[in-house]
Amino acid sequence: MSFKNLLIADDGAIRTITINRPDKLNALNQQTIAELHQAFAAARADDAVRVIVLAGSGPKAFIAGADIAELDTATAVQMRDFSRAGQDMMRLVETLGKPVIARIQGFALGGGMELAMACTLRIASDKARMGQPEINLGLLPGFGGTQRLVRLCGRGAALELCLLGAPIKAPRAYELGLVQRVVEADQLDETVASVASQLAASAPHALRGILDAIIIGGDAPLEVGLSYETQAFGLCSASEDKAEGTRAFLEKRKPEFKGR
Ligand code: COA
Repeated sequence: MSFKNLLIADDGAIRTITINRPDKLNALNQQTIAELHQAFAAARADDAVRVIVLAGSGPKAFIAGADIAELDTATAVQMRDFSRAGQDMMRLVETLGKPVIARIQGFALGGGMELAMACTLRIASDKARMGQPEINLGLLPGFGGTQRLVRLCGRGAALELCLLGAPIKAPRAYELGLVQRVVEADQLDETVASVASQLAASAPHALRGILDAIIIGGDAPLEVGLSYETQAFGLCSASEDKAEGTRAFLEKRKPEFKGR
């Protein structure tokens, strides 16, 4: 796999996908969105990959948004198609069935915050700045930001961030539940690696059941979500990893999950 705007690196079962346009603060142009779609589809299909870390290159930005230079000249139809392509890619990330960790070291604005919200967990440096500044361009979030922000942080925060457009600092993002952890900048890689390693060592069928039950079941009526959880629980119980997990507990040893 080789990409113009992405770097891919594997460390055991952890795949890191890095957006590599630091001179444009990793802004999402059409090509980068298409490449991300391809890279995540490949990660989903590869059984050796259990966890994905999504990062932006350079010290300044995770992603500073959709590429404004492209937006400047796009027609309404092109904007609609761009929105759809971004939404499709982000929905793939959200429903990948494997955990995706967003490593946020700086700006996560506009489409960058939207992509971060589509990830499973967000770990931020204390230098991170997050926001939906599209209003300042005479636009609104178009990659699912209005929908994911209201679900993650509630209506008040979603309205405040989207209507006022001002970026928020990492501690406020933590308060809102927008990020799960905030660490000092020099601790970011270690923290991301530690969370990724823990997930990579977990039973993949159980992870998959949790992800689907919370992400897909969480948007369904309670009865449907509960029923889905029951089915996933039953299916997971047929896995070798479940037998290994319960046996290891009773034998007072660490389980070794093989993804079977
Ligand atoms: N799209 C395209 N290019 C972008 C970009 C974006 N979303 N964000 C930054 N860039 C480019 C800048 O145009 C600049 O390119 P240049 O050197 O060729 O002029 C380069 O990245 C560096 O950005 P710059 O603005 O000089 O950095 P800064 O430190 O002064 O400011 C930000 C950083 C993030 C505050 C500022 O770049 C910004 O506001 N970006 C747009 C954020 C936004 O509105 N995102 C939502 C888009 S829908």
